[in-house]
Amino acid sequence: MGVAAPDRKDLDPIEVASRDEIAALQTERLKWSLKHAYENVAHYKKKFDEAGVHPDDFKELADLAKFPFTAKEDLRQNYPFGMFAVPREQVVRIHASSGTTGQPTVVGYTKNDIEIWASLVARSIRASGGRPGDIIHVAYGYGLFTGGLGAHYGGEYLDCTVIPMSGGMTERQVQLIQDFKPDIIMVTPSYMLAIADEFETQGLDMTASSLRIGIHGAEPWTDSMRKEIERRCGVDAVDIYGLSEVMGPGVANECAETKDGPVIWEDHFYPEIVDPATGDVQADGEFGEMVFTSLTKEAFPVIRYRTRDLTRLLPPTARSMRRFDRITGRSDDMLIIRGVNVFPTQIEELILKHPQLSPHYFLELRREKHLDELDVVVEARPELSQAGADGMAAEGKALQHDIKSLIGITTRVRVEPEGGVERSIGKAKRIIDLRPKD
Ligand code: DLL
Repeated sequence: MGVAAPDRKDLDPIEVASRDEIAALQTERLKWSLKHAYENVAHYKKKFDEAGVHPDDFKELADLAKFPFTAKEDLRQNYPFGMFAVPREQVVRIHASSGTTGQPTVVGYTKNDIEIWASLVARSIRASGGRPGDIIHVAYGYGLFTGGLGAHYGGEYLDCTVIPMSGGMTERQVQLIQDFKPDIIMVTPSYMLAIADEFETQGLDMTASSLRIGIHGAEPWTDSMRKEIERRCGVDAVDIYGLSEVMGPGVANECAETKDGPVIWEDHFYPEIVDPATGDVQADGEFGEMVFTSLTKEAFPVIRYRTRDLTRLLPPTARSMRRFDRITGRSDDMLIIRGVNVFPTQIEELILKHPQLSPHYFLELRREKHLDELDVVVEARPELSQAGADGMAAEGKALQHDIKSLIGITTRVRVEPEGGVERSIGKAKRIIDLRPKD
């Protein structure tokens, strides 16, 4: 493993431009985007007016902080097409979030938006080590979710051969990987592991397959999970980030030659990190909530959109654009157990330190005697599973002890035999909340 950096001449010139050039482009594009949103979306006009700001007040990048935030709730209230900044007839594509709570959020794209999206996913695949002519197996879901179609158009844009497999039918995924011999797979990290299990079930060695590169995202994952995927699947595993409200996959992507956090495609998205409680903009390097403003989107501009994703901005390395650190989680996924904040990714790190446990896991939140209790449910690897109940219980105790001493919370760990934790075919659901709704 180990992927060579792309030839500089194959990069978009802005990927390696000077910081001054990038800032100048961002300033010019932000002027346009703020004006476009204000003049064409009633919601933004109202919000700006209420905050006493006008697009003309934006003169330099620091002025963005004067503008109001946009939250998921704002999009819900304008369901379905109220946030569009162009006549509906110019919208050539709609996507929507799954909407597990309340209204789904609907987003739209003009022809030009789709073209830019495809070019940014192509840039992301190239950063991951993909080259024209590669075969890409897309196992992100196709449909209203942006993963499948987003990856698909990007692969075609880069002149790759795209296999639109979508998620599910895991046996068939293995069959087609064996038959079509793809170089690259694009899939959530959790489903990648389910595919690895299926290879094993069929008595096949995934590290011997044609796959060289895995482009994984759509859910939080850790560096330990990266190592696990690379070890079991024989690929270089690279992080892709995005969200439907801002575009879809390809807002940021890691460079395979450094694997040091996703590079934000700053020529199209302006990032800020804010204190989640006060909304104050944080300096680069400080942790907080990531906020994005779109710089070129026509159909669905977003101004200071609160992602709820917690991370920090890092300085440029392989490209001239800034990166961000592993996302610890979404602020909505933070559990507070007896006053201690904990994210599923912290538990994932500890599970992966136990070679007898598989990384298939979920957390069950219960309320007993007015107190929140956390159960960690994790699957044993085949060897441990075959060793029987006592071995599994002992391993559970060992993990419980690590969680107590390293995170500081008391949990109950249940180790299930092989196959005992249901596989996701897209985004893994890590938290099951069994507390009574009050
Ligand atoms: O998940 C878009 C996507 C598809 C990204 C395929 C990457 C690959 P949504 O369904 O709107 O869009 O969910 C967006 O997923 O706010 C994060 O919380 C989470 N997320 C996405 N990528 C990553 C990542 C797609 N690489 C939400 N690491 C985001 C951690 C991620 N979390």
